[in-house]
Amino acid sequence: MENSIKIFSTVDELSHFFAELIVTGIQQTPPGNHYSIALSGGSTPRKVFEYLAVHCKTQIEWEKVFVFWSDERCVDLQSDESNYRMAKESLLDMVSIPSDNIFRIFGESDPDLEADRYSEIIRSHVSSQHTFPQFDLMMLGLGDDGHTVSIFPGSLQLFHSNKLCEVAVNPYSRQKRITVTGQIINHAKTVVFLVTGASKAEMVARITEKKDGWGKLPAALVRPAEGQLIWLLDELAASKLDSIIQA
Ligand code: 6PG
Repeated sequence: MENSIKIFSTVDELSHFFAELIVTGIQQTPPGNHYSIALSGGSTPRKVFEYLAVHCKTQIEWEKVFVFWSDERCVDLQSDESNYRMAKESLLDMVSIPSDNIFRIFGESDPDLEADRYSEIIRSHVSSQHTFPQFDLMMLGLGDDGHTVSIFPGSLQLFHSNKLCEVAVNPYSRQKRITVTGQIINHAKTVVFLVTGASKAEMVARITEKKDGWGKLPAALVRPAEGQLIWLLDELAASKLDSIIQA
């Protein structure tokens, strides 16, 4: 497992690097296969999507991409809290990706039924490695409490679940969510944390430098077994790291 931390002066530079990962990944995808990416929600992913929509309409061969989500709020797809709606409006409606390549989580459905349905969607549309679905790229955000996808501190059993997807609860809002589990995340070829802003700096340092009870944080459990883990940070999010390595 290779880990790397890359620090960028601007979100655009971070987004450009992320876009290059996708371009390279698609180039390495065998003909006839699709490049599978799981999108995350949150403010940082939104900024990245907006960059891709403007700068990567043609650089990324969208017809070769299968888009999934790593988590979704249990809300209607018209809700302004929907991760699908955010990705649709900031990216998917602006690029030429076939609608059949988009596999949204039905936030409006019964959560337990949807967790099972989406698990089957992943099984049937994501290529397997060692008989287990392997995403080409897992895009993750980081909460300032150390959560990632919709697995929050105190719910590590969801990370260790033997299911592909679970129903989670946001402990602050009590909102139900559908989330992929740790085995999906850690089986991916490439896992990328995209983290910006000073509010995340303490948590970034805690996790990447293994400080102060880091091991009990959901995001700290992200350790791809064979894949690579890349932290893409802006300078504010990296500001509390002991050793700064500029991208
Ligand atoms: C969600 C995300 C969640 C998010 C982090 C970071 O649905 O909210 O999956 O894990 O990525 O909370 O969000 P921000 O970038 O908005 O801080």
